[in-house]
Amino acid sequence: IPEGEALVQAILDLKKEKNAVILAHYYQPPAIQDIADYLGDSLQLARAAKDTDADMIAFCGVHFMAEAAKILNPTKKVVLPDTQAGCSLADGCSGEGLRAMRAKYPNALIATYINCNAETKAESDIIVTSSNAETIIRSLPEDRPIIFAPDKNLGRYLMKKTGRDMILWDGTCIVHEAFSMERIAQQLADHPQAKLIAHPESEAPVLDLAHFVGSTSALLNFVEKDDAQEFIVATEEGILHEMRKRAPHKTLIPALVFDESCNCSECFYMKRNTLEKLYLCMKYELPEITMDEELRLKALKPIEAMLELST
Ligand code: 13P
Ligand code: SF4
Repeated sequence: IPEGEALVQAILDLKKEKNAVILAHYYQPPAIQDIADYLGDSLQLARAAKDTDADMIAFCGVHFMAEAAKILNPTKKVVLPDTQAGCSLADGCSGEGLRAMRAKYPNALIATYINCNAETKAESDIIVTSSNAETIIRSLPEDRPIIFAPDKNLGRYLMKKTGRDMILWDGTCIVHEAFSMERIAQQLADHPQAKLIAHPESEAPVLDLAHFVGSTSALLNFVEKDDAQEFIVATEEGILHEMRKRAPHKTLIPALVFDESCNCSECFYMKRNTLEKLYLCMKYELPEITMDEELRLKALKPIEAMLELST
């Protein structure tokens, strides 16, 4: 495997040779973000995957995101640098689990966060991401109960924002649930001019303290446009790379987690991807995301329902 600049060049050469596009999430290691053709949140990346005319999509994110790309654009070859790049939310909610919920609440609509696998999507009525969830939940018929899966923190936040009662699946993001409200309160006391911004996967006490809550792209826009000069950022630390680029003169402070031995918050699933693995997956076109067509079509329906309602 080439190293340093030669590795970057080799990836760019493979991209040209294979007519590939590199899509990356904001939580990816900085070197991957820098080489990506398109950097975005989960909704933006799903759209980019759907619209691309490249032959190969090298998806630098976690497994459910690469799967969504395949569901939306099945004729493209979708490769992921590391198939072990999972997600605690996706791991904690199966299609079988949602079928059981549907049997228990037959009249309910199932709204599922995009952080889930294809089988789980296939059992859902509509998919949401953190950037469109509020609009979508508000649009659902008032006379039907809503089951929201798998993130109970996002679910609780949406219940508070929309006033809609929902039956919540008991799932969490292991990265965002680790933020410590007490330590963040101390950070706010130490930086009285700073604004706390948080991803809605964080626990309720952190969200209650936050000056702004939003998806990764919403947090980026907020830092760029808001008048404040200092921000305490309660989401995965990979986002700081793009925040620093967009707001180079602002002070960005990673929010503290319960574990006092670390001062930032990393998603180890996202960080399984490396430039070396990206090079290998593009060279050998493996690991590739493949999917049974019947499952793909079932999973596509609730994603399309989401896209219709998202601006
Ligand atoms: P976004 O949709 O806000 O990018 O979030 C994805 C994610 O996995 C957050 O942990
Ligand atoms: Fe999943 Fe949390 Fe990692 Fe996002 S940060 S991919 S929700 S484990």
